[in-house]
Amino acid sequence: RIEPCRIIKVPEIVDSRGSLSAIEGGEALGFDFKRVYYLYNMPLGTVRGAHAHRNLQQLLLAMHGSFDVVVEDGSSKATFHLDNPTYGLYIGPMVWRNLVNFSPEAVGLVLASEHYDEADYYRHYDDFLRDARSLP
Ligand code: TYD
Repeated sequence: RIEPCRIIKVPEIVDSRGSLSAIEGGEALGFDFKRVYYLYNMPLGTVRGAHAHRNLQQLLLAMHGSFDVVVEDGSSKATFHLDNPTYGLYIGPMVWRNLVNFSPEAVGLVLASEHYDEADYYRHYDDFLRDARSLP
């Protein structure tokens, strides 16, 4: 299930005043979002994420600075480098993700398809691997 993980280009409207980017939920993105959250004030060397979701879909963007997202599904692994607010990483269900290598003052933005629900999380890698590997 890391195959659906992909970089999505966000339109950028540039004029003499600067840039504006807008993300619409729905068909173009592939899902509607119900929640926005952001990550900031990360100390040097921080690892975030370290979980997978049963159902949640999300788009993850670096609003400022950069970081790497390592995604894996129990058989394959890929790393995406985010360093531009006009490129977001789509992550679907049953993908373990680690967010690493945050630059100083990096800010990550997440558009999430569902409200916060701890029951949708795999917090333990072994539980995730067991279920991910038993999927058809
Ligand atoms: P956590 O899932 O560990 O963050 P990340 O995966 O980005 O490293 O979440 C940290 C804490 O914040 C945890 O106690 C759950 C809480 N939380 C919310 O209350 N609402 C949310 O939308 C999110 C994403 C987390």
